Amino acid sequence: MSSMPQIGMKGRIRRLLPGLAALLCCPAVLAAAEASLRRLGTDYIDLYQLHWPDEETPIAETLSALDDLVHKGYVRYIGCSNYPAWRLMQALWTSDRYGYSRFVSVQPHYSLVHRAEFERELEEVCRTYGLAVLPYSPLGGGFLTGKYRRDEPPPTPSRGATSQRIQGYMRDPRNWELLDQLRKVGEARGKSPSQVALAWLLSRPVVTSPIIGPRSVEQLQDNLGAVGFRLDAAEMETIEALSAWE
Ligand SMILES: NC(=O)c1ccc[n+]([C@@H]2O[C@H](COP(=O)([O-])OP(=O)(O)OC[C@H]3O[C@@H](n4cnc5c(N)ncnc54)[C@H](OP(=O)(O)O)[C@@H]3O)[C@@H](O)[C@H]2O)c1
Repeated sequence: MSSMPQIGMKGRIRRLLPGLAALLCCPAVLAAAEASLRRLGTDYIDLYQLHWPDEETPIAETLSALDDLVHKGYVRYIGCSNYPAWRLMQALWTSDRYGYSRFVSVQPHYSLVHRAEFERELEEVCRTYGLAVLPYSPLGGGFLTGKYRRDEPPPTPSRGATSQRIQGYMRDPRNWELLDQLRKVGEARGKSPSQVALAWLLSRPVVTSPIIGPRSVEQLQDNLGAVGFRLDAAEMETIEALSAWE
């Protein structure tokens, strides 16, 4: 990819009618892409990632439509999000078989409090086929920042006040031990727990770049403190032992 600012986006390609999808779907997809480019004020999208697998549309139809976008020059690279390993393999084989553009990136849900979903099978597929990995929710929606306290209700406003997922993290005693360790490593290195949690992802060889979701400039500045920061082998080992899922 170029060193210019890049535009990535997520989308979904819907099947309009079974059987007629190839005829009907592609013009609709092209028209929707043209409208997106107009709204974004750009000639092309650097990376277009499918948000979720589509249970109703055969993967060959989806990839054919994406391939059209690439050939038209509207999209440079394609990727996917929330694909389990078997669906990703199916997509890669389909691209090989028909000569369609292939997924170059994966956007998984992946953080220190959500490891198994990615590490169980998907990680190996990404490593083997050289796919870029862009984890979302890298701070567990905020839990790994250390903003929540044991035995205290989540502050308001915060995502933890309404998110059942974060409240679930708060009920697991192991996650509090993990947070204590992130604080300890952070204190020794002059970093916040969020920065240590982001550095853990950045230190995993398969990870390309976490996708951060700060709500304020202060949060953004804190998150950016992870740039260039890497954990050493001993720090990785302790943190991984406290978040192991196997
Ligand atoms: N592909 C998908 O299906 C999918 C799904 C989810 C998200 N995403 C993408 O991934 C991005 C990141 O996900 P995410 O928002 O869940 O990421 P995250 O980094 O795990 O959580 C972000 C939240 O953490 C808190 N936070 C961040 N930095 C903080 C700091 N320094 N101090 C205190 N709190 C801090 C904020 O919570 P408060 O708001 O409570 O302050 C913020 O809303 C999203 O913007 C979205 O683009 C993709």
